[in-house]
Amino acid sequence: MACTKFLTLNNGEKMPVIGIGTWQASDEEIETAIDVALSAGYRHIDTAPVYGNEKAIGRVLKRWLDAGKVKREDLYIVTKLPPIANRPHEVEPTIKQSLADLQLDYVDMYLVHTPFTLFINPDGSFQFDDEGRVKVDKSTDHAAVWAEMEKLVENGLAKSIGVSNFSKEQVARLLKNCKIRPATNQIEHHVYLQQRDLVDFCKAENIAITAYSPLGSKGIAKFNAAAGVERDLPDLMDIPEVKQIAEAHKKTPAQVLLRWIIDTGVVAIPKSTNEARLKQNLDVFDFQLSTEEVAKLCALDKNIRICDFSFFRGVEQHPEFTFKNQFTN
Ligand SMILES: NC(=O)c1ccc[n+]([C@@H]2O[C@H](COP(=O)([O-])OP(=O)(O)OC[C@H]3O[C@@H](n4cnc5c(N)ncnc54)[C@H](OP(=O)(O)O)[C@@H]3O)[C@@H](O)[C@H]2O)c1
Repeated sequence: MACTKFLTLNNGEKMPVIGIGTWQASDEEIETAIDVALSAGYRHIDTAPVYGNEKAIGRVLKRWLDAGKVKREDLYIVTKLPPIANRPHEVEPTIKQSLADLQLDYVDMYLVHTPFTLFINPDGSFQFDDEGRVKVDKSTDHAAVWAEMEKLVENGLAKSIGVSNFSKEQVARLLKNCKIRPATNQIEHHVYLQQRDLVDFCKAENIAITAYSPLGSKGIAKFNAAAGVERDLPDLMDIPEVKQIAEAHKKTPAQVLLRWIIDTGVVAIPKSTNEARLKQNLDVFDFQLSTEEVAKLCALDKNIRICDFSFFRGVEQHPEFTFKNQFTN
């Protein structure tokens, strides 16, 4: 059941088309989950300092590598430059911290996590204004940050570099100034938010799309609630068309949602810390959707953004924040 299907990136590196997402998982949950995931055949792990679990992931990786159960070159580890460190001088120290926490010498992919930048206090907490909105650092300079990202490839700290949550216009701007083209743009992408224009543009520029929240990010409700955001979110696994296709293939709705992403040439990074669901999410290579089924799923697009960063109230003040449908769906 191992993930043996890869997408070849614009620099020749190969990225497994299914990875495990790790957002909203405690240290304990993620240690068990990564162990289960590696045993099940996952090799691609998506993390970020913002998720707070790089050290726990690093402990499992070290155990597997030291025991010779997996070779470093067979792993595909992705982490990100957080919004609080989205400044040129913070790129190198920040990846070095991630590498120390992950107990690795290099990552396979390093992403600029967001196109915007936030201020923090010396203790690491976010800065807020008098109205409780996060303080944004409007001095964000994508070209200057990217020049530092390129140095990570040159000095061997990252095999590939990319962006996340970048709009078409932001990617186009980066392409004008870069020496190394972004290898991927990691964006929210699922049947209800297909971002066709952005996806087609990136594909035409040979920039792979990595789909985050491919199953609709059920766990985000907790995050939103903690930030005082009340929002009804759709359940992608309860969409009648998805359920009907799942029944026809004797698969689950989650497997259909993931297979559709893969069949449209995109990489998916579903998160689960549940053993059965982790295995299920990787078990998507023994069936194929018909052209009609793919078209049916493509027709479901509703432009509903689930991970709209409304948990960072005030982020909309940043000039590079472009999620215009925030709070409206
Ligand atoms: N770059 C970014 O800004 C960004 C933003 C969001 C996410 N991400 C990355 O993308 C990853 C995935 O996105 P996500 O975590 O937002 O959401 P997701 O993968 O769409 O959904 C995860 C949720 O679905 C549940 N789930 C997983 N497999 C399932 C299955 N087969 N059947 C039913 N429920 C299932 C999980 O619960 P259980 O764990 O209980 O199974 C969890 O609550 C993240 O973990 C993170 O690595 C990146």
